[in-house]
Amino acid sequence: MSKPVIWITRTLSAATLARARRDYDVIWNDADTPGRAADIIAMSGQIDGVIPCHSEHFTADVVAQLDPRLKIIANHSVGVDHCDLPALRSRGITVTNTPGVLSDATAELAMMLMLAAARHGIAGDSLVRTGAWDAWSPALLVGKQVTGARLGIIGMGGVGLAMARKARGFDMKIHYHNRTRLSPDMEAGAIYHDDLDDLLAASDFLSLHCPSTPQTKGLINARRLDLLPPGAVLVNTARGSLVDEDALLAAIETGHLAAAGLDCFDVEPGGNPAFAKHRNIVMMPHVGSATMQTRDAMGAMALDNLDSFFRGETPANVV
Ligand code: DGY
Repeated sequence: MSKPVIWITRTLSAATLARARRDYDVIWNDADTPGRAADIIAMSGQIDGVIPCHSEHFTADVVAQLDPRLKIIANHSVGVDHCDLPALRSRGITVTNTPGVLSDATAELAMMLMLAAARHGIAGDSLVRTGAWDAWSPALLVGKQVTGARLGIIGMGGVGLAMARKARGFDMKIHYHNRTRLSPDMEAGAIYHDDLDDLLAASDFLSLHCPSTPQTKGLINARRLDLLPPGAVLVNTARGSLVDEDALLAAIETGHLAAAGLDCFDVEPGGNPAFAKHRNIVMMPHVGSATMQTRDAMGAMALDNLDSFFRGETPANVV
């Protein structure tokens, strides 16, 4: 019996590609360029399934033009904001994601950004790197201590929970806002704020871990930034659309925010050039889940979902 044909749109881990080639007829975009709308539409007539990343956009317009041969989109991502789910459902196309397996890697990057933002990581590195470090002073690069500080987490799914665990290791006090309150076990002493505005007032550091949806677009706007205590630090490893970037820039420029650590931007790739002149904005290019271990786990989960689908079962991670 012939194997299903799948398209792998980007350079996934070697283990993922090897397993995919063993079990499927694979069309692999080894140029590793994002699949544009026209590529997705053209390819859909040759494939039974696809493993895309968040760089391939299945908009309503694209979905309307997909060939009926394409039956499953097994995302190599936890976020599915690049997929118009109602449009895909109406075409009967199954969509899956990779929850859980990237929580630790993403929380590690959030910790890195939080610490680097709090302790002048960019300014310190460039001082030494450029040879401009010619004096030491007790007033040099005095930062903000995380020990004992309150960390507000928006979104206590897998990544938010991993962030809370890691931050407890730094003796931070955890506060959170989530659609539903966690069980006492899962809360592990974290303080729940039913009202997002109350959480903001209690956050010396604020880390975003909720999905991008029409409801969360621009969630962190000028009014909400203003509710943070003066000198707060914002960390975003979730999605750029959650933050009003003009408002963030204004809060950095007035000094209301001491610093920010960002792995996600409204415009990706590229980011926001206006942030570049502020060395208290630490930036990474959307690489929260980029560890070898996590890339392998994401690939394995995407393939598990495909395998179930082609066996005629419901995949574990249908969204
Ligand atoms: C995710 O999985 O959603 C990450 O942002 C990488 O795509």
